[in-house]
Amino acid sequence: MKSASWIAATRRARRVDTSVRLGPLTLKSPIIAASGTFGQGAEVMGITDASKIGAVTVKSLSAEPWAGNPPVRVHPVTAGMLNAVGLQNPGVSAWVSQALPRIPDDVTVIASLWGRTVDQYAKAARLLLAAVPRIAAVEVNVSCPNLEEANEMFAHSATATHAVISAVATELEGSGLPIFAKLSPNTWEVPSIAQAACNAGATGLTLVNTVMGLEIDIESGTAALGRGAGGLSGPAIKPIAARIVAEVHRTLPDVPIIGTGGVASGLDAVEMMMAGASAVGVGTASFVDPGATVRISREVARWCGAHGVSRVSSLTGTYKAPS
Ligand SMILES: Cc1cc2nc3c(=O)[nH]c(=O)nc-3n(C[C@H](O)[C@H](O)[C@H](O)COP(=O)(O)O)c2cc1C
Repeated sequence: MKSASWIAATRRARRVDTSVRLGPLTLKSPIIAASGTFGQGAEVMGITDASKIGAVTVKSLSAEPWAGNPPVRVHPVTAGMLNAVGLQNPGVSAWVSQALPRIPDDVTVIASLWGRTVDQYAKAARLLLAAVPRIAAVEVNVSCPNLEEANEMFAHSATATHAVISAVATELEGSGLPIFAKLSPNTWEVPSIAQAACNAGATGLTLVNTVMGLEIDIESGTAALGRGAGGLSGPAIKPIAARIVAEVHRTLPDVPIIGTGGVASGLDAVEMMMAGASAVGVGTASFVDPGATVRISREVARWCGAHGVSRVSSLTGTYKAPS
């Protein structure tokens, strides 16, 4: 039997308005499944009820199918994991025709795009128009090597980020789809790169992608991952993500941010919103607990109910930075 205090806390949580706005997009909960950690969307539907969270961002899609990296692709490390999956995906058109129809209508879907040239991003965006109006938004993963600039990441250059977002915005013009630029934490220039993305037509920002890391097996002297270095995610990166979200929110207070990195509980999500996020991405936590996104969504409402916060959205940017 549930205790009286549990029932009272549940009643208070039910009265909390959990909806959040990201520019023109309204979500029923601030919690969003982060790209690459919820498959292509359809395969996790039997495992957790994604209609209860704000949205599902699918694994990044390119114009053409892409095989990804050789194994080992994922490796557990202290307080997180390393991955070098390598953006494996079936291509935009196959996803639109085969995976998207298998996602229930009450699940809000954000499609993520990637490319290795500005033209490849533009083509992916053009192909994605076939998914309108089923998809709610587009996330542009600019944490990818730029073939035309010696493989330097687009997301490490304001100019390259501007070029990609502007090409995608041009293709999607008139579709009504909000665009979120997903940026890399592996540069000190995130605020100026974020500004460039918004100048080019991004509605909002997803902060952040994985932090570059390396683990070496000292017996063999080789890297734990097949590719050598990879992306670190999970609890280890939460302070890095929170710091970047706070910095960018201070510079661009009107731009909606999907704060992502190391969130594993409702308390973490509240913290990310206080830093300046309007919504919160949950990635690695879903590998530990496939129901993490739904649980975290519920925990946020419960925390708000217990703290007299009637609207979850009012948490955004309430962090009191030292002056
Ligand atoms: C296995 C794995 C695959 C990922 N694939 C993508 C991807 O395809 N596109 C993308 O933008 N981010 C991808 N990410 C990054 C996550 O979306 C997220 O930004 C990052 O993991 C930090 O959040 P977390 O600590 O909650 O996992 C991936 C992360 C992991 C762990």
